[in-house]
Amino acid sequence: MNEIIFKTEGLAKTFNRRKIFKDISFELKENSSLAITGKNGSGKSTLLKILSGILSPTRGSIEMNIGGKIIRHDSYFKKLGLVSPYLQLYDEFTGQENLELFRDIRGIEATDNYIEDLLKLFKLWERRDDFVRTYSSGMKQRLKYAFALLHNPSILLLDEPRSNLDAEGIETVYKIMEEQKKRGILIVATNDSEDIEHCEQLIDLNKQETSGK
Ligand SMILES: Nc1ncnc2c1ncn2[C@@H]1O[C@H](COP(=O)(O)OP(=O)(O)OP(=O)(O)O)[C@@H](O)[C@H]1O
Ligand SMILES: [Mg+2]
Repeated sequence: MNEIIFKTEGLAKTFNRRKIFKDISFELKENSSLAITGKNGSGKSTLLKILSGILSPTRGSIEMNIGGKIIRHDSYFKKLGLVSPYLQLYDEFTGQENLELFRDIRGIEATDNYIEDLLKLFKLWERRDDFVRTYSSGMKQRLKYAFALLHNPSILLLDEPRSNLDAEGIETVYKIMEEQKKRGILIVATNDSEDIEHCEQLIDLNKQETSGK
């Protein structure tokens, strides 16, 4: 297996002079997992967006190194998968088309068989030909997981992993979290104690000192 290192140093984010967090530093290697907790508005989703390369930090740095190669920020999306309430799906396409489109746009090497496996794993196979706009919120969340796993990411980032899922969906998510830890790195933004139990390390954003310089 390729060695994976994902580390940050002194990450800080300020929105319109409002300090959200400062000085987030961690170092993760393959087979490790991190939970990020904190009150509503403490910056969990913001931090995950920064880690995914969607947002820039105000200060600090991120390094992703896979198999001895530094990955450029604009290529992070090739190596990581994200499940987040902020992700948009294409409403006017079917679930299956969404995955195929994403694969083709991104140039991901995912076979039709693998897409079928993911749709079955997330219990969307029967509804694969329906437009996403007709999906329930839990079905949309399941489709986001299929997206995130399409390219077997080295790093999987989950923002509120259980959102809208039923007991069976949550069980599948925990299975995936365990598999991700065997394969790479798992980062979860959550306040749910059961989610946190699946992670070895913890950062509580409310314990970050945000006052001062
Ligand atoms: N684009 C933006 N412009 C200005 N402020 C923002 C923006 N995005 C987020 N914020 C602010 O940043 C802070 C952190 O928001 P964030 O969504 O990261 O928190 P969170 O910990 O994920 O909260 P929750 O538990 O409710 O999901 C909040 O005060 C929010 O209002
Ligand atoms: Mg959030």
